[in-house]
Amino acid sequence: MECSSWVGIALAGLSVLCVAQCSLSDVPELTNYTFPDDFMLGVSTAAFQIEGGWNEGGKGESMWDTYIHKHPEYTLDRSNGDVAADSYHKWREDIRMIQDLGVSYYRMSISWPRLLPNGTDNNISKDGANYYRRIFKELKRLNITVLVTLFHWDMPTPLMDLGGWANPKIVDYFEDYARVAFDLFGDVVNIWTTLNEPHQHCYNGYGNNYFVPALQSHGVGEYLCTHYMLLAHARVYHLYDREYRPKQKGKIGITLDAFWAEPHDSSKPEDHEAAERYLQMHFGIYAHPIYSKTGDYPAIVRERVDNISLHQGFARSRLPYFTLEEIDQLHGSSDFFGLNHYTTFLMAPSSFEETWRVPSLDHDTGVRLTQNPNWPKPGADWFTVYPPGFRKLLNWIKRNYGSDIPVIITENGSCDFGGLKDYERVSYYNKYLYQMLLAMYQDGCNVQGYFAWTLMDDFEWTDGYVSKFGLYHVDFNDPNRTRTPKLSAINYREIVRTRQINFDFIKPPGRPLHDNRI
Ligand code: NOJ
Repeated sequence: MECSSWVGIALAGLSVLCVAQCSLSDVPELTNYTFPDDFMLGVSTAAFQIEGGWNEGGKGESMWDTYIHKHPEYTLDRSNGDVAADSYHKWREDIRMIQDLGVSYYRMSISWPRLLPNGTDNNISKDGANYYRRIFKELKRLNITVLVTLFHWDMPTPLMDLGGWANPKIVDYFEDYARVAFDLFGDVVNIWTTLNEPHQHCYNGYGNNYFVPALQSHGVGEYLCTHYMLLAHARVYHLYDREYRPKQKGKIGITLDAFWAEPHDSSKPEDHEAAERYLQMHFGIYAHPIYSKTGDYPAIVRERVDNISLHQGFARSRLPYFTLEEIDQLHGSSDFFGLNHYTTFLMAPSSFEETWRVPSLDHDTGVRLTQNPNWPKPGADWFTVYPPGFRKLLNWIKRNYGSDIPVIITENGSCDFGGLKDYERVSYYNKYLYQMLLAMYQDGCNVQGYFAWTLMDDFEWTDGYVSKFGLYHVDFNDPNRTRTPKLSAINYREIVRTRQINFDFIKPPGRPLHDNRI
């Protein structure tokens, strides 16, 4: 590793000058913008992926515990979340790592079954409550603001047995759980998100079998999941707004996810149309009811699912309707736009692909996804690196939902298969953050925060411990689960310290400086 502080200082000077004096169109290509003083820089984790302690302190089972204990072959390496990174015992060390990175924000989730072992509020685990309360208090003492997600995919098994998010009653149970969390922790937690990535959860878990509960209720259960997750989110937003915000003075929102959709052939109007349709069917379906001017599902989603359902012989649309009151409840039900973004796919229209089932969201969307073979693929198969996609996505959000709503990037990060010298991850962060800054400074996108995914290597769902996203390496063969910073941790710490990106701070051996900055 070599540090080139001269270049950093020169660029720092340049950016200060430009922010003060240049009009946006004058800004030179290499300007290294600084993160505004009040910009939130943080790091993210999720309970099931790091905690372990799967049956300790009276914790109930989550559907991931139950499913992979029954089907050990489900994960790539036949692993499970029983111990994971053992954060249940090592949380103090984790907080030290957060401190070492120098970030002032930390996003984590509460395990619903750790707090409510049966999923219901008649039985609150004392140990579970103490575990989270100690973490939140310690973070507060250290001036680290915590952003807490209520649901990051670990549904209590007894509620999954009742249908999980496909059962309308879940809206009540989620509200009950949220009330317990606000009561217990609202004095030490000021930023909440209700749900993490409902799209990935419903599409992969209810429509397909890539995630637990692996229901494969394509085209039916996957839309029930969408519908009731949205309603549960709105219910909890209003609960907080009405009963807790006045005294706790916090904020509450939701985290949505999106790939960027790039036309496969940019000269073909039909590929542009397919890309737009994909974004509406997979992202707008969640964002439009909350953030658009009109509310409700996007018209194109409503029309397509209604019409296709009819042709398929269904008596009613597979996508439920909101009542006027529900449309109203959802509309504006988020104080910020939480966004997770990782990668880009190429889009072209298609009426049928061999991998699609009928009915399904894939088939209703009618878009074929492919990858650009020229884009780097440092890890999992779904993951290619195309930094400009991030800027384009932020602009799409601005075009569709305006720039009043603050966007907080609740996750972004790179995948590989391990190693401390993670140059590709360093490069990913530098380039994606750079594109985000361009979106902010050159395009006027209202981004107010960024959380790197993730603090440390963890249980990457179906991939088990094979795919890595951590800034810190975790030795999963060591009972101590020893943590070691990777180069990307050192690089991120420097970004946080200087509040700008220095592309030359960590240089991959044998590669030219600024190999490319797109
Ligand atoms: C988004 C999910 O929220 C997180 O749990 C997962 O590990 C990352 N994507 C990487 O796949």
